Amino acid sequence: MADSTRTARITDLARKKARGEKIAMMTAYDAAFARLLDRAGMDVLLVGDSLGMVVLGHQTTIPVTVDVMVHHTRAVVQGASRALVVADLPFLSYQVSTAEALRNAGRLLQEGGAAAVKLEGGRAVTAVVERLVEVGIPVMGHLGLLPQAIHQLGGFRQQATRAEEAERLAEDAHLLQKAGAFAIVLESIPAHLAGRVSSELTIPTIGIGAGPDCDGQVLVMHDAVGLSAYQPPFAKQYAPLGELFVKAAEEYIREVRAGVFPARPA
Ligand code: KIV
Repeated sequence: MADSTRTARITDLARKKARGEKIAMMTAYDAAFARLLDRAGMDVLLVGDSLGMVVLGHQTTIPVTVDVMVHHTRAVVQGASRALVVADLPFLSYQVSTAEALRNAGRLLQEGGAAAVKLEGGRAVTAVVERLVEVGIPVMGHLGLLPQAIHQLGGFRQQATRAEEAERLAEDAHLLQKAGAFAIVLESIPAHLAGRVSSELTIPTIGIGAGPDCDGQVLVMHDAVGLSAYQPPFAKQYAPLGELFVKAAEEYIREVRAGVFPARPA
């Protein structure tokens, strides 16, 4: 972002794409980590519904509700003073009707304090995207591996590997752009397809498991710092915080049991 102190806006992301500058996005689920990621200079903090898996311990993102998303979004917004905060619309919060989608997205902005929402899907959700954008709610799309459709997809595996699926995904990306989405996450698709879509669209693409040619990248924070129980093959671990945490906890336990902590007053 041009100014490192002012709050980021969705237009900053478009500007970055136009200048060929990559966008750095990471998930955040609470104020403490949001503050640290903000301090590090992250462009976008995504309050992902992945919190259902990495924070709450569910097997999928499906149990996550709008109330849970509002709760965590509020916490992230408290911690972030500069980064753009985008919150996921969880499973079935935008598919039942446009009216429900509006109300739920509105809650993420009004009660949670997010600047934008993200939702999964292509042509099936473009009418909702159009309406949200029409009332002033910025929308980030999400194509490829759609974790909310995991039972239909049959597992967390790469998508759009066949030519006709790739064409359909590229069409969906154009439809989302036409509907007014300001950016699109491309998850677990072949790198050449992500590169093609990124060069065809005027809005930025943010890749995860989609190769280096997207306009930005996103990682689940717990994967990036070694806090996840399961590490996807495409995720890179930048710090072993899980290991450090266990060592710190072990040392504390030893000191408490040995009567070393707290120290006796001299
Ligand atoms: O919920 C999430 O964390 C996401 C990212 C994987 C993009 O949608």
